[in-house]
Amino acid sequence: MTSKPSSRSASSSARTRESRLSALHLSPESLGFVLDCAAQAVGAVRLGAALPAALQSVFVAVPEGNAAAARGAVQDVAYRTMRRLATAEWLIARLVKKAPAPHVAHVLACALALLVEDETNAAYTPFTVVDQAVKAIGARREFAFAKGLVNAVLRNFLRERDVLLAAVQADEVARWNYPGWWIDAVKRAWPEAWQSVLAAGNTQGPLTLRVNARHSTVDAYLQVLQRQQIAASKAGEHAVTLATPMPVERIPGFGEGVVSVQDAGAQLAAQLLGVRDGMRVLDACAAPGGKTGHLLELANIQLVALESDASRARRIGENLRRLKLDAEVRIGDAGNPAQWHDDLDQPFDRILADVPCSASGIVRRHPDIRWLRRQSDIAALVAEQRRILDALWPLVKPGGELLYVTCSIFPEEGELQAQWFGDQHQDAVRLDAPGQLLPSVVRAPADPSAGSHAGQPAELSAGTNSDHDGFFYARFQKR
Ligand SMILES: C[S@@+](CC[C@H](N)C(=O)[O-])C[C@H]1O[C@@H](n2cnc3c(N)ncnc32)[C@H](O)[C@@H]1O
Repeated sequence: MTSKPSSRSASSSARTRESRLSALHLSPESLGFVLDCAAQAVGAVRLGAALPAALQSVFVAVPEGNAAAARGAVQDVAYRTMRRLATAEWLIARLVKKAPAPHVAHVLACALALLVEDETNAAYTPFTVVDQAVKAIGARREFAFAKGLVNAVLRNFLRERDVLLAAVQADEVARWNYPGWWIDAVKRAWPEAWQSVLAAGNTQGPLTLRVNARHSTVDAYLQVLQRQQIAASKAGEHAVTLATPMPVERIPGFGEGVVSVQDAGAQLAAQLLGVRDGMRVLDACAAPGGKTGHLLELANIQLVALESDASRARRIGENLRRLKLDAEVRIGDAGNPAQWHDDLDQPFDRILADVPCSASGIVRRHPDIRWLRRQSDIAALVAEQRRILDALWPLVKPGGELLYVTCSIFPEEGELQAQWFGDQHQDAVRLDAPGQLLPSVVRAPADPSAGSHAGQPAELSAGTNSDHDGFFYARFQKR
């Protein structure tokens, strides 16, 4: 049965449509259009929406003919703004006496995020940014009164740029572009490395591929890339990082399943599980299926891919179809095996517990996360992880292994959780694993002596560049 929209929601969606249409006389090729759309997405994030979902609803306003280029530009400006949001908001507070209307503030934030970039990274000239921000505001009847304000704020910023940016340095939130609680948590956890961790989260991650071991090797694939004059380097046992990102349709072999997009740090999961032909394996929190695919590439295993979110679970199938691999996808709560695992089911040789977490290790690819998380989320996530780990452990065969994984840099979702698990389960023997892998953009040879010491951040594998997101890995064997 379809429900009739209430008159209130109908009138609010009409208002939304009207407000979108009112901006349509901006050319979709113009930066003004891009700023208008990006500002709407930033506004939605500020109200609690995830950026990818916010962008999808904004993209409704992008005319079909211009879709790819305009969407790419909107996405780029919105992502840049997420990485500069606190700087931009600090500047707005400094340069404007009375807080502007939210949409005006968000257009200003997007424009300032572009203007604060140093020249080498700047995507547009300062003149274009100011001119187009004024046009973006002028294009909406309801905000056109603020054209003068937007012009004045941006010009004042350009005039006093150096002084203002020096003043930004004195405010930690404005300087680092993370909430204060997040900065404090990183300082507490990593007193020696907190600045490099925060800085890494403000970069744009590289495009790293996983070479499908059923089809090729890293060395052979690097030769394929070289023949097509695509610069790339080895980044792990199955990992290749492209020097310059490109759309997946243009990546050699992507459509045929020869490679998949996956961060080098994430690729350790399947390797650490040490799967062999014939093993029965559970991927307990599987969507969208990145690690599921990797596990199936490494051996002929019997794999159950479990996911609690039915719509996300569909993506596991989509990913596996491209790789021409197969798993038994089940929908259910990993913390309640009675839902999806009956007594006749065999226990598992290996369980991958890539549990829900703060995602604080992958903020460079998801820069909105820092603005969406609350400090109180961490304790709730820790409790949820414990519930899932406790429920999964009885499903591991004696002699079998469970791998606890998070894409977090907070010890509560890392070493402290692993220690708690070891204390709770006397039949769990902790095996060698990297422990905390901090996000790194340093392209230096890894130190082979680093790794596996509890509580100490580890490096990725030796002999590769070390550009990767942040992860935590702990491995337990059942006695
Ligand atoms: C970190 S992501 C997994 C990423 C995945 N392993 C990959 O490599 O593509 C965590 C996943 O766990 C799912 N999830 C959250 N709570 C769950 C639960 N109680 N049981 C099963 N899955 C859960 C989330 O919907 C999300 O898709």
